[in-house]
Amino acid sequence: EGNKKESRGALIVLEGLDRSGKSSQCSRLVSYLEGEGLSAELWRFPDRTTNVGQMISAYLTNASQLDDHTIHLLFSANRWEKRSLMETKLKSGTTLIVDRYSYSGVAFSSAKGLDIDWCKAPENGLLAPDLVAYLDISPDKAAERGGYGDERYEKLEFQQKVAEHYKVLHDASWKSIVHDVIDINSGDNDDDNLAVLAEIAHKHDKGKALEAVHEDVLGKAGVLTSARARRKRAAASS
Ligand code: TMP
Ligand code: MG
Repeated sequence: EGNKKESRGALIVLEGLDRSGKSSQCSRLVSYLEGEGLSAELWRFPDRTTNVGQMISAYLTNASQLDDHTIHLLFSANRWEKRSLMETKLKSGTTLIVDRYSYSGVAFSSAKGLDIDWCKAPENGLLAPDLVAYLDISPDKAAERGGYGDERYEKLEFQQKVAEHYKVLHDASWKSIVHDVIDINSGDNDDDNLAVLAEIAHKHDKGKALEAVHEDVLGKAGVLTSARARRKRAAASS
């Protein structure tokens, strides 16, 4: 293989309830990394600019109605349509700071009562993050922050359910599917939070081949398992 492996970027996901402060932490982190001379981009899901994203946006703004399973699959499709571009960026050395990812997909839909394994299934094979940072805030406190807008899920009662489902995911699987998980207390000092995130971003920006990282990460997972890792496990146990 020689020295051909280029340094890849890190895939860093921020998760949390609506109004947990993800978006501002994401942009602060990107600015910080850029200031350090690293290539970094801010991404977000849903990406409302695509055709699928426009369907999602219409649903969220109550301009359209969709069956719970249907909207779940659209959120997932919205990540799938960006997968290859994400991979290209990461391989070319750009770190992606992503505002919501699969964990939002599973937490929000399972909070509606959909089966959690059914919710996880379409996420199989998406890129596994190096880090998920969960911005921990109580639903009440989030609701107080400038209030919610008019979007479909921005209601205290529902956000309370989402928080419970994030917790289920956190306890049951995050630790086995990502290299690192950190909790950030969203009420704490923003500068301290940024310092923690920045340190972790650096740690992951160390040039592992993306493929190897996926396999490693996905291979350990009981969920969100790629077909490839499954085949590998099957081969190892036979
Ligand atoms: P946003 O406020 O970050 O733009 O996200 C819009 C809403 O969509 C938010 O309430 C979280 C929800 N959501 C899902 O239900 N499933 C998903 O897969 C994603 C990415 C977001
Ligand atoms: Mg929102």
